[in-house]
Amino acid sequence: MAVKYDEQQKIFHIFSKNTSYVTGIVREKYLTHLYWGKRIREYHGSRSIVWKDRGFAPNPDDTDRTFSLDTLPQEYPQTGNGDFRSCAYGIRQENGSRISNLEYAGYEIVDGKEGLPGLPASFGRDDQVQTLYIHMKDPAAGLKVRLAYSVFYEADVITRSVVFENASGEPLTLTKMLSMSVDFREDDFHVLTLYGAHNNERNMDRRPLTSGMVSIESLRGTSSPQQSPFMALLRKDAGEYQGDVYGASFVYSGNFVASAQVDPYRNVRFQMGMNPLNGDWYLKPGETFYTPEVVMVYSDHGLMEMSHIYHEFYQNHLVRSSFAKKPRPVLINNWEATYFDFNEEKLLSLAKKAADAGIELFVLDDGWFGHRDSDTSSLGDWVTDLRKLPHGLGQLSEKIHAMGMEFGLWVEPEMISPDSQLYREHPDYVLHTPGRPCTLGRGQLVLDLSRKEVCDYVVESMARVFKEGHVDYVKWDMNRHLTDVGSAYFPPQQQGEITHRYVLGLYDIMERLTAMFPQVLFESCSSGGGRFDAGMLYYMPQTWCSDNTDAICRMKIQYSTSLVFPPVTMGAHVSVTPNHQTGRVTPLSTRGYVAMSGNLGYELDLEKLTSQELEEIKEQIAFYKSIRNTIQLGMLYRNENPFESNTVSWNFVSKDGHGAVAFFVEVLSPAAAPVRILKLKGLDPDALYKNTKDGCVYGGDELMYTGLSMPLKKQDFRGECYHFIKM
Ligand code: DGJ
Repeated sequence: MAVKYDEQQKIFHIFSKNTSYVTGIVREKYLTHLYWGKRIREYHGSRSIVWKDRGFAPNPDDTDRTFSLDTLPQEYPQTGNGDFRSCAYGIRQENGSRISNLEYAGYEIVDGKEGLPGLPASFGRDDQVQTLYIHMKDPAAGLKVRLAYSVFYEADVITRSVVFENASGEPLTLTKMLSMSVDFREDDFHVLTLYGAHNNERNMDRRPLTSGMVSIESLRGTSSPQQSPFMALLRKDAGEYQGDVYGASFVYSGNFVASAQVDPYRNVRFQMGMNPLNGDWYLKPGETFYTPEVVMVYSDHGLMEMSHIYHEFYQNHLVRSSFAKKPRPVLINNWEATYFDFNEEKLLSLAKKAADAGIELFVLDDGWFGHRDSDTSSLGDWVTDLRKLPHGLGQLSEKIHAMGMEFGLWVEPEMISPDSQLYREHPDYVLHTPGRPCTLGRGQLVLDLSRKEVCDYVVESMARVFKEGHVDYVKWDMNRHLTDVGSAYFPPQQQGEITHRYVLGLYDIMERLTAMFPQVLFESCSSGGGRFDAGMLYYMPQTWCSDNTDAICRMKIQYSTSLVFPPVTMGAHVSVTPNHQTGRVTPLSTRGYVAMSGNLGYELDLEKLTSQELEEIKEQIAFYKSIRNTIQLGMLYRNENPFESNTVSWNFVSKDGHGAVAFFVEVLSPAAAPVRILKLKGLDPDALYKNTKDGCVYGGDELMYTGLSMPLKKQDFRGECYHFIKM
């Protein structure tokens, strides 16, 4: 049992291995939040609500001025009747009223967890997860709301989502429908978010909460590189390995909002869900609306433990692909090697070099279809360009397979170029608002995935290409954000639904294609890590982490991405120097170490390398194959934070504890350089470990507490790597 209802106190105690979450019913109808934090055995009314008459706080019961929704810690707050803080949901009735007031209406506790129709969601067996449904109703509006809390006891995770049902006789518009709202009765927090841009995704931003609201969002139609759908509240003393951390990660790939609002009495409202701006939903009588879910993690051992919980949970309870627990192949991708300028001969000689180096998967990137010699044409025309590949995709794939490699293909199925056959035949397939011009992005337009026939077109054309190319791997790209959002196929009152319908259309396409091609390894991409979110991971077990392949930038991007996502979900490639994004020249060894910290790939013209460089790459690949289980399926420990220092270090420990790999990178070579010490984490202190390179033996305790002295080198961007085997 992970949920208990105490009839006498009228409280629900939800608990996992190390976490308790308590919510209760006050005055028969209000659902109040009581506690989220370290596990307690039982709740006996501690941290009771202190009732107080506060100025300007309205009173629903005029006999008691101490009771106000404005000061009540709420579980799913409404708007319009006295709570002036950020509401969790909003409605508009046909009569124009926007007021709503939910009352408690019962509960159910069930073993297991239902899926969310049309949406990605975590899953678990009946003996792994238990769900509490709290039923609420607003009789005046005829609205029913079901709050779902699923508790994964061992995984130490609670998920939340909401279902709205229009039980009235007339339509109702949902104007806001968040998935999570938690009222903390304290404000001693920092807030941590991940912001960025194309080529510079997921920078860590940690700032104290003061007054007012910290809010992040995406209105771009995808989760976006600008803000990641993740927010954590941290105690001020919390760090990687100590202190209270409360994480919220959204299983959704579209517009979102996350916020932390401090009220005048130093309480904090922590919320996450779909972005209400341009995102309402018209609910006809009898219809329901499901929100995506939020995955909530509490840890009292800092960010690293929070990350471990997310990593394990996403690998075990979110990624559906059969690749979730399989080692991923070392790949070569021709993008930075050739861009659009290639032919079959060039690809085959690149592939031959790759196969000789030990590479296992050849990925043909953009430019193989239509007449696409630049990014200005052909999206939507998924037909092989016979000028470049005169023998067709099938034959190219056959030749790659004959070299002993798998064959992978790049596609960008959600898009359409104005210069395409598809556009000439179906201009109406474009996402657009009738009567307004369409805005181009990267010279392309977006398909209207809110329409079933457009989704069908995408599924059919992709299925044909995947079959023709006998593909083992697909890189699914998405290179612009949504503008001019609207659809001629929905009535005016449903135009606010189109952004979400786009995401639902995308999920439907991915659902169908991943079911048709279960043997294919899908890698999601949006100009790199522009849509690196838990929603995409449900369908596609890895993501191209960033278009920025510069090792020094990548250290940071991969470090912060690992706050939520495990290294096995991150595509990481060695590319040429000077680097195409930054112009920086870094040692090949350092580029290798950073890329080896995720799913290793190469993205450069192997034919232009010296024999010495090729030899080094061969060695990297052989070495990576010997450690890849530890990297991809083991545990990551972050040691030195590149956002705070000139160095980064992290290490991996295999699940069986047998192998450990540590990486260290120093960015700039300092004058009067201090000797840096590398301390590993996660080892068995009582065991002995042998360095596979020089045979030296150390105790696990030594490696963790005494540490290793890093050699002094007068070299910028230098890296070191150590591989240990437990004796
Ligand atoms: C953006 C991707 O992130 C790149 O890796 C590459 O696939 C290009 N698109 C191709 O257009």
